[in-house]
Amino acid sequence: MMKIGIIGCGMIAEFGHIPAIQQVSGLQVYALYDNDFSRAVHLQHRFHVPHAYPTEEDFFTSDIDAVVICTPAPIHYKNVMDAAKHRKHVLCEKPLGMDEEEMLEMKRVMEEAGCMLFTGFNYRFSQSAKDIHRLVREKAIGEVRLLRLVYNWHLHGKWHWNEKGERVDSALRVGRMLEGGPMVDCGVHQIDLARWWLGSEVAWQHGIGVWLDNYEAPDHVYLHMAHECGAHTMVEVSFSYNTTSKEPRPHFQYELIGTDGVIRYNREEHSFEVRNSHGTQYLPWHPEKSFTGMYMELLKALQNGTPGELPTAEDGIKATRIAKAATDQAIRERDKPSKGCPSTKSRAEIGRLYPDEVPMDFYD
Ligand SMILES: NC(=O)c1ccc[n+]([C@@H]2O[C@H](COP(=O)([O-])OP(=O)(O)OC[C@H]3O[C@@H](n4cnc5c(N)ncnc54)[C@H](O)[C@@H]3O)[C@@H](O)[C@H]2O)c1
Repeated sequence: MMKIGIIGCGMIAEFGHIPAIQQVSGLQVYALYDNDFSRAVHLQHRFHVPHAYPTEEDFFTSDIDAVVICTPAPIHYKNVMDAAKHRKHVLCEKPLGMDEEEMLEMKRVMEEAGCMLFTGFNYRFSQSAKDIHRLVREKAIGEVRLLRLVYNWHLHGKWHWNEKGERVDSALRVGRMLEGGPMVDCGVHQIDLARWWLGSEVAWQHGIGVWLDNYEAPDHVYLHMAHECGAHTMVEVSFSYNTTSKEPRPHFQYELIGTDGVIRYNREEHSFEVRNSHGTQYLPWHPEKSFTGMYMELLKALQNGTPGELPTAEDGIKATRIAKAATDQAIRERDKPSKGCPSTKSRAEIGRLYPDEVPMDFYD
């Protein structure tokens, strides 16, 4: 039995990781740590976990084989450094780190400790994502030329109401926007899928932001990637889609467009289909995430001492690098946009920036 320790006992540990680990025979959730000890104790009782520790030292020196990091992104670096010191393998939630320097050091230190470091890109393990991977290789839609990967959602709303009934900014939203915004927080999954489905690295990219809100990072981002194989990917991610709506409805879609047809997956419609010159095939629909599938692979990796199918630190670094570069470019070009891609600007500003190119009725 492989003993797993979880550091960070918040939302994703409770609803994603722990229930999934407990479904994989051969893995055991053995120890919990959170700097808010009450969270660790809460999950210990809820899931009947043998140990919840009040200190990191107790946690890391317990009898665990591997650590799963479910803390907020700015804490990942410290957690990985501690795990390396105690020679524990790590599966770390995305985004792997806050910047390039941090992530490269995490990878290097883990390698020097002789430990494996994985990135928790659980989308790869959804049966639908695996089917797409297979269909691309079988050339079900000919040569894939274009991916359109969209995840527009409300991030559980812009506001919350406190105990006094007052409307306050959602702490979750503030945190995620300060950590880099939607492309860094969520878009890394889509970037990872594009690289994995196509089996091709990104040769060129361009990020454009739209601001519905007042953070430095854009809360709605477009990323265009050109892959070495010649295919293109467009990722669109938003935290501001219906964010003030009483009845929000997110939009999550994959479309792969090839020389002989289209693969289309829609989460809200529960639809998954391939249309090509032979006809239409309706495939069984599965949710976009699979923590259980990821943990079945973690068990194999721990038993064999090799990554197998698990996304590595390298995968985490590449996706985060692309997402950050897109976000940084969007921020830079907000005030000085490239010709042809005006950002969230008033009509007067647009006219001033593009006196020749922008027609008078551009925003009518
Ligand atoms: N892959 C996915 O589908 C997915 C979905 C949601 C969140 N996530 C990622 O999971 C991570 C956690 O997200 P969440 O939504 O569970 O956040 P959360 O805020 O609900 O939980 C984080 C927990 O970490 C604890 N914590 C904070 N600082 C700590 C420290 N120094 N040491 C120990 N514990 C500490 C907090 O007390 C809290 O209990 C983030 O990296 C996020 O991007 C991934």
